[in-house]
Amino acid sequence: MSSTATIKYGDQTVELPVITGTENESAIDIAKLRDLTGLITLDSGFKNTGATKSAITFLDGEQGVLKYRGYAIEELAEKASFLEVAYLLIYGNLPTKAQLDDFQFQISRHTLVHEDMKKFFDGFPSKSHPMGQLSSLVCSLSSFYPESLDPHQTQEEQNLTIIKLLAKMATIVSWIYKKSLGHPLIYPQNKFDYVTNYLYMTFGQRTEEVSIDPVVAKAMNVLLILHADHEQNCSTSTVRIVGSADCNLYASISAGISALWGPLHGGANQAVIEMLEQIKNDGGDVDKWLNKAKDKNDPFRLMGFGHRVYKNFDPRAKIIKKACDDVLAKLGINDPVLDIAKKLEQAALSDPYFVERKLYPNVDFYSGIIYRALGFPTDMFTVLFALGRLPGWIAQWKEMRENKEPIGRPRQVYVGEVNRQFVPVEKR
Ligand code: SDX
Repeated sequence: MSSTATIKYGDQTVELPVITGTENESAIDIAKLRDLTGLITLDSGFKNTGATKSAITFLDGEQGVLKYRGYAIEELAEKASFLEVAYLLIYGNLPTKAQLDDFQFQISRHTLVHEDMKKFFDGFPSKSHPMGQLSSLVCSLSSFYPESLDPHQTQEEQNLTIIKLLAKMATIVSWIYKKSLGHPLIYPQNKFDYVTNYLYMTFGQRTEEVSIDPVVAKAMNVLLILHADHEQNCSTSTVRIVGSADCNLYASISAGISALWGPLHGGANQAVIEMLEQIKNDGGDVDKWLNKAKDKNDPFRLMGFGHRVYKNFDPRAKIIKKACDDVLAKLGINDPVLDIAKKLEQAALSDPYFVERKLYPNVDFYSGIIYRALGFPTDMFTVLFALGRLPGWIAQWKEMRENKEPIGRPRQVYVGEVNRQFVPVEKR
């Protein structure tokens, strides 16, 4: 296949290079397009625009394939720990036993947060949304670790910044939950592995030692792995573009958390449960709500359905759907919204509107049902998405810096007024 693309414009014909990746995706490199033709490209929402070359995650939307550093998500979800996957995404390879033990040890040394951070927790209104708290608290880490502001940190200094963020994120997330309940904060116990420590700080009590149900720990491990990275999605692109301004890791991740909050993105897992509850309280007529989702005059969308890239099943949704059945059965929970979700999925998958537009359940469609079964309130769901996505965001930020990518600054086509003369206010 030609390694160039020909563009004819007016009396011009230019050849532009075509690059092909290791999974046979190809792209026209338009770096020289404007110099050669005066043209730029326009692609609202970047639906057909590649922002970078990345070696971290590959997904094939048509085939429903997702791989982290070449490993299939199905295999990682079944066989790996979340910390192994975090190491894989950030450093490029699955860790040896010695590397994994050292990674866990380093993280265990940094799970505490500065005691002064509690003042921030105390300052939030009790019912403020956990995502707004998380974004603020993660950014505030740059206040406690000013050395992280140096864009020219050594690799060792940068790695310590990464370790601190991974370690403290679990503590911050659990403390946000505890504060929402008015419960005393539970400090990390370094004898536990990463996920168990997070669950211990979340569900532990000051007055008694609680044991973490292995079913819950396994489900949490799988959920965090499934959310760990997803190539150039909205929040990851935000992390990369903020980081491209030589912005420190904490502020870059904080920006990604804010982007993830959106109901069209990570906020969808909360919106799905709210939607299912609404349908249940409305009598459970799924056909009525499907018709609303199809009605262009109705703002209602089927949350948890559709995806910018997947035009087949989201492989993560398949794994989560199965985990849903397992976890609820093992915990002896019968959640009526799960039945509604399954009816909704079945109806949508045979409805021409959804079939023609290749709208399938995405990662958010079933995840909220498991989070709820594990005991989390709805407004914590997207925070849990962020906890899972953290290693992916870090890996992508690190790759962007290692590639010495230029500051992100898209162009535009101006369509506003031209050459207006100023008129004093008295004469307008
Ligand atoms: C995540 O990018 C990632 O990788 C994200 C993510 C990750 O891991 O980081 O996978 C996580 O964000 C998953 C997506 C969570 N969001 C939702 O579940 C919200 C509901 N879904 C939609 O809003 C929508 O599907 C998006 C936002 C996910 C994708 O939107 P696109 O790619 O811009 O597609 P579109 O809005 O142009 O839709 C194409 C057509 C339109 O109809 P027509 O104009 O062609 O007639 O499909 C329709 C849309 O109206 N459509 C839907 C729909 N999703 C798309 N109609 C009803 N319900 C829906 N959910």
